[in-house]
Amino acid sequence: MFIVFIGPPGVGKGTQANMLVEKYPMVKISTGDLLRESIRDKSVLGERAKGFMERGELVPDALVIDLVNEKVNSTAASGKSYIFDGFPRTIEQAKELDNLLESRSSKISVAVDFSMDEEERIERLSGRRMCPSCQRTYHIKFAKPKNDLTCDACNIPLVQRSDDDESVIRQRSSVYWDLTRPLLDFYRKRNLLQTIDASRNIDLVFSDLDRFIQKIKP
Ligand code: AP5
Repeated sequence: MFIVFIGPPGVGKGTQANMLVEKYPMVKISTGDLLRESIRDKSVLGERAKGFMERGELVPDALVIDLVNEKVNSTAASGKSYIFDGFPRTIEQAKELDNLLESRSSKISVAVDFSMDEEERIERLSGRRMCPSCQRTYHIKFAKPKNDLTCDACNIPLVQRSDDDESVIRQRSSVYWDLTRPLLDFYRKRNLLQTIDASRNIDLVFSDLDRFIQKIKP
């Protein structure tokens, strides 16, 4: 099973992807997490991606596609299903993902469109806190850690993502509308699109998502 998550910043893609991975044996490929990891490791890719991410722009397709190819190739032997969180984000990336899956005699099973208002997303992102070690995300109101601003798993202080500044969030949203939203038509035409109202609480969103997954389970 190959599941694609599409949605603007702060809609809850990462939260739901983590919940799926806890429930099912799945590989999660989050291009945002992989890029942040490259920046932390000070790799050549990280150095090239950093400026784009800080400005809220997309990292060039070729860099992201290489990253995804590498991750799929290194995990393919597991035979697990995949969740692509935040990839593809352009038509070019979607076509490359099709080619990659076709070369493995596979195809996308479902593309999930998470949708909700911009102002609520900004509230979610300004209250988001992240563990700098395991990258688990929390929210100061909606998904609190057990102890004040400390990761439940790693027991270290949570941090705020540098691109969760309001002006960068608005830029990321505008990039979503211009470059990523056309993917909805791309998948709708192939009857692969499922839309979820992501404005509800975390568990309600997950129950919708789980229902879609159950339907496509072989
Ligand atoms: P990325 O890390 O993918 O960021 P994003 O898509 O902007 O999405 P976010 O991680 O901000 O939000 P989310 O939808 O995952 O929400 P979350 O679950 O955390 O990408 C960052 C950058 O990397 C991009 O700007 C770009 O530069 C680059 N990049 C990445 N992929 C790329 C690609 N394919 N091509 C080119 N460039 C790429 O939830 C947000 C908050 O809300 C959390 O605090 C959470 O606890 C809370 N929350 C979640 N769900 C709920 C709910 N239902 N109710 C209440 N609170 C909730």
